Amino acid sequence: MEAAKGVGNEVRNPAVAKAVWYKLSVNDTESLLSIANKIHPDLPESLEVFIERINLYPEGCLALIDEQGKGNKLYGYVISHPIIRRQPPALNSLLKEISPDADQYYIHDLAILSEARGCGFAQECISKLLAIAERFETTSLISVYDSTSFWGRFGFVSGESDNGLERKLRDYGEDAVYLERRNDNQI
Ligand SMILES: CC(C)(COP(=O)(O)OP(=O)(O)OC[C@H]1O[C@@H](n2cnc3c(N)ncnc32)[C@H](O)[C@@H]1OP(=O)(O)O)[C@@H](O)C(=O)NCCC(=O)NCCS
Repeated sequence: MEAAKGVGNEVRNPAVAKAVWYKLSVNDTESLLSIANKIHPDLPESLEVFIERINLYPEGCLALIDEQGKGNKLYGYVISHPIIRRQPPALNSLLKEISPDADQYYIHDLAILSEARGCGFAQECISKLLAIAERFETTSLISVYDSTSFWGRFGFVSGESDNGLERKLRDYGEDAVYLERRNDNQI
């Protein structure tokens, strides 16, 4: 599903075509929070939660920024990090640390403003994350907004659950589904 960047968005906003995934900085978190509040109004997380994840696992936290990071417009972000398998963090919770026993990669939040969607940016981002995730046997996420078919493109399928996980999922909404992929999947 290789998509040409800017297709469908060039006329509306040419800067979108130049956006790139860049290392997320704690200086981006105010802009990040405004995107998060717009896209996830019912799944609120505090500034501290985002800052902590960036500090704990900078490699897995990316910003979609215009002009190769020189611009100041944030179009999207992703937060990801290792966890212990099937133990995703509760919504809006501090981790304190990346567990030394972490054995699974976890994509916590991927959000792109509507003006930058459909340009292949999510696909590009997920490819970057899955390259990091290769260090672990599996990658997981909590799918919301009926996005399971989107994640299915990358080999994510419904994962084995338990009561603790099911309780945690309810914080993420009625439609939340725990998904996993094996990292030796060819996609
Ligand atoms: C999901 C999201 C990250 C996709 O971003 P994007 O930039 O549009 O994705 P891409 O351009 O890389 O890929 C677009 C393709 O994915 C498909 N797609 C996008 N969102 C989808 C969804 N929720 N369900 C199914 N397919 C979806 C598009 O139809 C398009 O398909 P095509 O290539 O066949 O035309 C973006 O729509 C978003 O931020 N949504 C709100 C937050 C969200 O849903 N996050 C994930 C929840 S866990």
